[in-house]
Amino acid sequence: MINCIVAVTSTGIIGDFETNDLLWRIPEDMKRFRDLTMGHVVLMGRKTYESIPEKFRPLQGRANVVCSSEKHRPPVMLGNDTSIVCAQDPVEYIQFFKENHQGRQLFVIGGGSVYEQTLDLCDRFCITLVHEQIHGVQDSPSRVRFPIQRLFSGFSSGSLAVTDMQMHPDYQFLTIDRRGANGALRRHDQN
Ligand SMILES: NC(=O)c1ccc[n+]([C@@H]2O[C@H](COP(=O)([O-])OP(=O)(O)OC[C@H]3O[C@@H](n4cnc5c(N)ncnc54)[C@H](OP(=O)(O)O)[C@@H]3O)[C@@H](O)[C@H]2O)c1
Repeated sequence: MINCIVAVTSTGIIGDFETNDLLWRIPEDMKRFRDLTMGHVVLMGRKTYESIPEKFRPLQGRANVVCSSEKHRPPVMLGNDTSIVCAQDPVEYIQFFKENHQGRQLFVIGGGSVYEQTLDLCDRFCITLVHEQIHGVQDSPSRVRFPIQRLFSGFSSGSLAVTDMQMHPDYQFLTIDRRGANGALRRHDQN
């Protein structure tokens, strides 16, 4: 099962190139991220890995896969505990994961370039929709983006459906699932 987890504004902003950081601190979002990803595989770009404070990386209790053109090793099987391996192309890694880790869950955790490349491969999207006005997020050329319009177009085409929504004053938690070819929602326990 391939999941995508992201905190994003309605205009698609997820962070900033110049600071290589988020534009908000939402403790409940960090807790949800930890709870959902714990025990699973997390796939990220090199810049996102470097944005995690050193004392927290690799992310504990998760197999960390970091994409970089500089540090390519052949894909390897992953253990269940904290580990770190380097991959190159995130799309190729997901293909390898599906063929070799059936029954396990992978979470694409960013950043912008990795979301862009992997959006169409994800079965489930765990979205934190951040209310930009409450968090004072302003647009600027240095913002890093998530392809939110492509996600929204999945609703109009009927290939995606919202399966859970929790409202909070300054953010919403959304779960969005992809429909299979027959229109039925893919079950979360299927790989
Ligand atoms: N709001 C959220 O939920 C969220 C989540 C995660 C990250 N973020 C934010 O996103 C920003 C970082 O995103 P980003 O787009 O700048 O960087 P990124 O996607 O995290 O990392 C990009 C790097 O990944 C490697 N990479 C990506 N695709 C590759 C490919 N096909 N083949 C080989 N290597 C590949 C390259 O590393 P090399 O340069 O080493 O080759 C590339 O420079 C930060 O501001 C961060 O805070 C936000």
